Amino acid sequence: MMGRWLGVRTSPILAACDGLGETAVVETRNRTAARVLVTGGAGFIGSHLVEALANAQERVAVFDNFTTGSRGNLAGASARVDVVEGDVRDLDSLRRVMEGVGVVFHLAAVSAVAPSVKDPLTTNAVNVTGTLNVLTAARDAGVRRVVFASSAAVYGSNPSLPKTETHPPEPLSPYAASKLAGEVYCRVFAKLYGVEAVALRLFNVYGPRQNPASEDSGVVTRFLVCLADGQPPIIDGDGEQSRDLVYVGDVAGAFLRSREAPAAGGEVFNIGSGRSTTINELAKALAGIAAPNRVLRPIHHPARAGDVRHSCADISKARQALGYAPAVELADGLARTLAWWRESRTSH
Ligand SMILES: NC(=O)c1ccc[n+]([C@@H]2O[C@H](COP(=O)([O-])OP(=O)(O)OC[C@H]3O[C@@H](n4cnc5c(N)ncnc54)[C@H](O)[C@@H]3O)[C@@H](O)[C@H]2O)c1
Repeated sequence: MMGRWLGVRTSPILAACDGLGETAVVETRNRTAARVLVTGGAGFIGSHLVEALANAQERVAVFDNFTTGSRGNLAGASARVDVVEGDVRDLDSLRRVMEGVGVVFHLAAVSAVAPSVKDPLTTNAVNVTGTLNVLTAARDAGVRRVVFASSAAVYGSNPSLPKTETHPPEPLSPYAASKLAGEVYCRVFAKLYGVEAVALRLFNVYGPRQNPASEDSGVVTRFLVCLADGQPPIIDGDGEQSRDLVYVGDVAGAFLRSREAPAAGGEVFNIGSGRSTTINELAKALAGIAAPNRVLRPIHHPARAGDVRHSCADISKARQALGYAPAVELADGLARTLAWWRESRTSH
């Protein structure tokens, strides 16, 4: 175990979302002395959420098995955070860590499509049974709310745009199927046991600490790796496919807002930027700031089978119910990500 508990604040506080000078500012209230648990808190998105919670003087526990996350990701917040090494497949460990917890942010997962295609059974064990374990331990410990990290992948082959939460899911991968199953369990636990379990369908999240080593690393990080090595970015297909790219600080803000918002248990919310960007536009924008004096024409590879052509979130439900308002423009978010990337390369 590392870290220590800090005293509890009882007044409203303003928490900057990731300690990187974010413009997205969220009001949080520590209304009870209960602590907050973040599963997968040592990962890319989880570590930003943990940092925001720690900045807000919350009592935070991280539960993570460090498969894709790292203690290094928590360096900025470790003094205020208790880190528990454990696996969401192990219900007993979850029961122990759930004592005295008021809110759970459940992000631990096999977090990408490619490993789920290779090993659907492990994906099911971690993402479905693991989520069921989290909900069960939360119910038994009297946790008020569980906020589950779902994914826009659940929309799969549904071509409607922009995606609204009412569009029927059409998962294309074991990963997407597992996230949909997690959402369904959230709904069942809300209806059956009164656990306020809500799901956030995250679109394409990018920003500092996204792991470039991951097979399914976000497109922004993959382009950065190429550009930093003086190589042209590699684009799958013609590059006219589009994505909804949302900055990680905005996503951390959405999680914080989900904790107190009067959302009904079992509800799902799209969390994206609400804008679509083609991969060609992204490559151009990133090359413009990462290698402004070079002409690096992208290399086009064949399109990936099953790749979704266009993706864009309708975020009006989250705006209305959670007060969610993404604040970081793409150019700004890319500049912050590039700055982190350069800094992390020089410090290793
Ligand atoms: N990054 C995105 O664009 C994106 C989009 C949609 C949804 N999501 C979801 O958001 C969540 C966080 O994603 P991320 O991008 O930060 O991924 P990540 O891989 O960086 O984070 C996942 C964390 O879960 C931990 N973990 C994995 N298996 C575990 C297990 N069995 N027990 C305990 N901990 C375990 C990992 O060590 C890691 O710290 C995931 O649930 C992911 O599916 C991410």
